[in-house]
Amino acid sequence: MAKIIDGKQIAAELRAELKEKVAAFAAEAGCLPGLAVILVGEDPASQVYVRNKIRGCEEVGIQSFCYRLPESVSEAQLKSLICELNDDPHVDGILVQLPLPRHLDEQRILACIAVEKDVDGFHVQNAGNLMLGQEGLTPCTPAGCIRLIESTGISIEGKHAVVIGRSNIVGKPMALLLLQKNATVTVCHSRTRDLGGITRQADILVSAVGKADFVTADMVKPGAVVIDVGMNRKEGKLCGDVAFDEVFPVAGFLTPVPGGVGPMTIAMLLSNTLKAARSHG
Ligand code: GUN
Repeated sequence: MAKIIDGKQIAAELRAELKEKVAAFAAEAGCLPGLAVILVGEDPASQVYVRNKIRGCEEVGIQSFCYRLPESVSEAQLKSLICELNDDPHVDGILVQLPLPRHLDEQRILACIAVEKDVDGFHVQNAGNLMLGQEGLTPCTPAGCIRLIESTGISIEGKHAVVIGRSNIVGKPMALLLLQKNATVTVCHSRTRDLGGITRQADILVSAVGKADFVTADMVKPGAVVIDVGMNRKEGKLCGDVAFDEVFPVAGFLTPVPGGVGPMTIAMLLSNTLKAARSHG
């Protein structure tokens, strides 16, 4: 039987710590850290994520500024808002909720965010810093996954970590963070042959695929730490990539969905916002 990794609880502890650190920062700096969140269009999942991010800010005492733009906004208009926020001293962090409508070029837009305010860690320079093992802002979901793995007490060093998924926002940075922690890392994706043969070798298995019931019991090494980054809907209910009921008896540790990675992503965003505020005063 797996032990459940309680992301909700671990995130709540992190937020409690952050609340104290934010108060200490505010006392010294004379102002609150500020996070600007930009949401373009009406995507229902994005609306929920943004609402939760704003609520997280409120809880720890970070000031939030929410910008809701219509689906039809032009790239020039969006860039102009980002430029204003780059220059706004009340704003320490800027987050553009993804995905963006198709007519907007994500990479070009993310590149407009000031590197030191890029609390999602998606700017090409922060991606480069991560790649080189240099100081920078780290993507929130992978950073949260590392915290969850470490919460088990199992050391990452020397373990075989398998990441399923190679997105810029989860798979690739996840692999780099695991490598930084001295894991032996394998990245699998949609073209991988004998996926199960590889995942069965994983001491640590991270799934970021976006398909319900994708990771089945036969793909999991007994005793493995299994981190489920999936956010899928099945019969109207939120579920991850892992077929929870069948993997539960096989894994050593397992994150639930909801209540696993999701709350940690937000806690790490708040942490990055405080880090950004500290770094530019
Ligand atoms: N969409 C899915 N995950 C994320 C995230 O971590 N940050 C942003 N900005 N958009 C997302």
